Amino acid sequence: MTSQGARPARKAVIPVAGMGTRFLPATKAVPKELLPVVDRPALQYIVEEAARAGLPEVLMVTGRNKAAIEDFFDSTPELETALEKKGDAARLDAVRASTDVAQVHFVRQGEAKGLGHAVLQAAAFVGDEPFAVLLGDDLIDARDHLLEQMLEVQAEHGGCVVALLDVGRENIDKYGAVAIEEDTQEGVVTITGLVEKPPVDEAPSSLAIIGRYVLAPEIFEVLRGTAPGRGGEIQLTDALATLVERGEPVHGVVFGGRRYDTGDKLDYLKAVVRLAAEREDLGPALRSWLREFVTELPAEGASSS
Ligand code: G1P
Repeated sequence: MTSQGARPARKAVIPVAGMGTRFLPATKAVPKELLPVVDRPALQYIVEEAARAGLPEVLMVTGRNKAAIEDFFDSTPELETALEKKGDAARLDAVRASTDVAQVHFVRQGEAKGLGHAVLQAAAFVGDEPFAVLLGDDLIDARDHLLEQMLEVQAEHGGCVVALLDVGRENIDKYGAVAIEEDTQEGVVTITGLVEKPPVDEAPSSLAIIGRYVLAPEIFEVLRGTAPGRGGEIQLTDALATLVERGEPVHGVVFGGRRYDTGDKLDYLKAVVRLAAEREDLGPALRSWLREFVTELPAEGASSS
């Protein structure tokens, strides 16, 4: 059991072995994690988030057809020399920032046996310390400091911490769902049970796990003994449920900020529009075009011709 005041997490694990079927055919040859959100791959936002939260050591758990991710985080001397020669300092900075943001390591998952199995591949990299897991589909707005808060809760209580969002009962069957006790402090809850993607009428609450976790290293030993669960996959949710049953602390931080599910097509489009509309360079022109565009939109059900 992780005791209070144990050493803080320094490492982040990002599973990126998923096939990205929801974005086919775009993801036939490009990993879904590299699809651009404005002008940066979704994955770069996630790595930046980890680095901002004080986790500069990042492990990506990759799979087949993900070599482009390794290339993305590698340095690109030819490209940098070309930009230097052109005197294009802004793009040179952008290219360098994308590789310098963190120390990125890679391990292959081998077989796609679920999120729990992906996390288990990080055991040697993580060692005996708490660590964070960030899922690439969930983009948390840089102005909201969810991961920082989770790391503080973990440092204070030990054990594991998950990010929670009230998704409404009708959507809970797409997520890991939790049972909770009353708030211990503002926005922080004690978790008393977890179930992966329960049927709507069996869900313990409408609070869903979103893709941020701070985990105690004990999770590895539990994952090794976790049988395949929902979908025949080794579920991280099931391993967390075992820790709860053993009486180990598992807390939830209820998120009230801005989150985009870039694994969902509609949410992905919303994320691109929102983030671009707020940018200094693109925002003014995009906002004025959007206003015009919206006034010209036909009412729902009306013919567009
Ligand atoms: C995974 C987890 C699930 C969690 C979700 C968050 O599911 O298994 O508990 O709620 O991520 O995005 P997936 O989306 O990979 O099916």
